Amino acid sequence: MGYQLGLIGHPISHSLSPWIHQQFLDLAELDGEYKLYEGSPDRLPQLLEELKAKKINGFNVTVPYKQVIVDYLDEIDPDAELLGAVNTVVYSNGKWKGYSTDGEGYVRSLIETFPNLLTNQTSVLLLGAGGAARGIYRALNGQGVAKVDIANRSKDKAEQLLSLRIDEVDSNVISYQQAEEQLAEYDLIIQTTSVGMKPNVEEQVIQLDNIRQDAVVSDIVYQPIMTQFLRDASMRGANIHHGHAMLLYQGELAFEKWTNKKLDVTHLVQKLENKLRGE
Ligand code: ATR
Repeated sequence: MGYQLGLIGHPISHSLSPWIHQQFLDLAELDGEYKLYEGSPDRLPQLLEELKAKKINGFNVTVPYKQVIVDYLDEIDPDAELLGAVNTVVYSNGKWKGYSTDGEGYVRSLIETFPNLLTNQTSVLLLGAGGAARGIYRALNGQGVAKVDIANRSKDKAEQLLSLRIDEVDSNVISYQQAEEQLAEYDLIIQTTSVGMKPNVEEQVIQLDNIRQDAVVSDIVYQPIMTQFLRDASMRGANIHHGHAMLLYQGELAFEKWTNKKLDVTHLVQKLENKLRGE
């Protein structure tokens, strides 16, 4: 029968995950299928019964279930527990265990492109403090970088991230204005808000006038692939990192947990980009 995999969430009809996981199944030469299980929030218990009855090997979890799913799992990975969110569930020995692969997937995608970027000298600016920012913040702390400053529209939310900090990492909550002023301090700038996403493609969360040319600017928005933020960074001579790579690598980490197969997916970054561009 092969691997039974899938995604729960709402709405998910435009999800790229079935395409991505089919690429992984093909690459790993495994039989299986990755299906969408869509349901409005009140249908979650029913959806989970359906998945259990199907003896699904594993599934991804997206909006609006990433937090509430925790109550339905038998076990939860410590990092996912700390984040309070799960995006991957693995079925093993009759139990469901939850993980979060977003942050680690992001870091993997970054290291694939910039292998020497993350060291104990690296200063990072994180823009945004939502669910995606939490996973990325935690994973960056785990990499032992020197500093991760957080700027967000609502200061309270940025301060909540500090509870995920690892001691050796210097971390301050700053305003967007401060971030703009001291931009030259940062080696890596990561945009995690929804600003610039289709259809508001002209928007940009902060101005990049003070950026250093050797800095890396990363945007997790992937629709469009070339956001205004990345275009601006590129025009100023900085290096850029696109959002769809994170999508691919968080999926690859989930696939690895379900199948115990570790894949080299570097060539799929371009293939996914072509798909997103409609080529
Ligand atoms: P995700 O899980 O994708 O990170 P989220 O948890 O809803 O989504 O977080 C959205 C992020 O985008 C937050 O950092 C949010 O800022 P606030 O915490 O201040 O709300 C940010 N964001 C969304 N719209 C924004 C806007 N128009 N200007 C600035 N920041 C915005």
